[in-house]
Amino acid sequence: MRMVDLIEKKRDGQELSTDEIKFIIEGYTNNTIPDYQISALTMAIFFQGMNERERADLTMAMVHSGDTIDLSGIQGIKVDKHSTGGVGDTTTLVLGPLVASLGVPVAKMSGRGLGHTGGTIDKLESVSGFHVEIENDEFIRLVNENKIAVIGQSGNLTPADKKLYALRDVTATVDSIPLIASSIMSKKIAAGADAICLDVKTGSGAFMKTLDDARELAKAMVNIGNNVGRKTMAIISDMSQPLGFAIGNALEVKEAVDTLRGHGPEDLTELCLTLGSYMVYLGGKASSTDEAREKLKEVIANGKALETFKTFLQSQGGDASVVDDPSKLPQAEYQVELPSLEDGYISEIVADEIGTAAMMLGAGRATKESEIDLAVGLVLQKKIGDQVKKGESLVTIYSNQENIDEVKEKLYQNIKISSQKVAAPKLIQEEIT
Ligand code: URA
Ligand code: CA
Repeated sequence: MRMVDLIEKKRDGQELSTDEIKFIIEGYTNNTIPDYQISALTMAIFFQGMNERERADLTMAMVHSGDTIDLSGIQGIKVDKHSTGGVGDTTTLVLGPLVASLGVPVAKMSGRGLGHTGGTIDKLESVSGFHVEIENDEFIRLVNENKIAVIGQSGNLTPADKKLYALRDVTATVDSIPLIASSIMSKKIAAGADAICLDVKTGSGAFMKTLDDARELAKAMVNIGNNVGRKTMAIISDMSQPLGFAIGNALEVKEAVDTLRGHGPEDLTELCLTLGSYMVYLGGKASSTDEAREKLKEVIANGKALETFKTFLQSQGGDASVVDDPSKLPQAEYQVELPSLEDGYISEIVADEIGTAAMMLGAGRATKESEIDLAVGLVLQKKIGDQVKKGESLVTIYSNQENIDEVKEKLYQNIKISSQKVAAPKLIQEEIT
């Protein structure tokens, strides 16, 4: 097989066979096919697309390009959740204990990553003593015992995707639905998921800015999953404003605890119930998503979900007493209210810019080396559609720096107020099953 012939084939709109896709991904992984030929191919894919069979083949070729996680020692159906980005997305912290308390095994491998706040592991590390440096056997044992554990990323998972994503980034070929969908799905499958629940975000804070694009991506991923034997479902949810109130690490842990207690923000609670009902259904612990939803409400009301969270923290060295006494979480030195400068209705809270403001306080990492300040961040006091009076707080700023003029300016620029009534955005835009 010659790579140049395969590029030509795709350039002319023909489909690539299973063996051809395998040849390409293997060759790229072990450096026998150079970047420039792969760039030409990804550009051809960008224009010509890939059919369902090609997408499934590309996904599985990337899965097999490196290590895969063997979760066969864990009883039950391993359901993984994936969200496509977002700001202040506290769902993982809530969903884990929530579905685990109904017996769905949550075997989460997580990274730190870059972003407006830290990743799930950083957030959890704001609980003193909590750590994810555990051996594989211990991880499996904990999931079987408590139905939930989190381990730090290890192994060489989907190296082909890493190379390909970096190359696409500098060749203007990121925005291709078949390439995005296979990239995301390959990582989930390599991490051992039997079933997958996807939360595709749309709006200003999301990777997919429009509903049409989000829908196309969601459908593409659901098709890939189902075609490679992993039951997959997706929802499209609004990310035109940050999710919940809190954006920060310790602040989001507290928000997750509130939500597990049944006192969380309305949007975060609703999203967790929707995604959770899919996970419980896919995990075989309810015969319909409606039944699953009722069960989830039950474990919130009877305290079982919160209890599972405590056990989980404790089992990985964490001080579970923070659940009942959140003042034991890292605290910022300054707590400053941002008063509204006028009367009206909140019309816009530009999610990614608000995320950047949290990052300016130190809540997130700009580079792999940067340190995170777990205590700092923002808590929104208003959401889109809320009425506000001049002088009322829009946001509480948690900071360890005294001078936060730039942060305040950024917040004022990105929280827009209208004199007209504004409708709150619809949280769950679509469900794709
Ligand atoms: N996120 C991914 O993981 N892969 C893509 O290709 C795009 C977004
Ligand atoms: Ca939040």
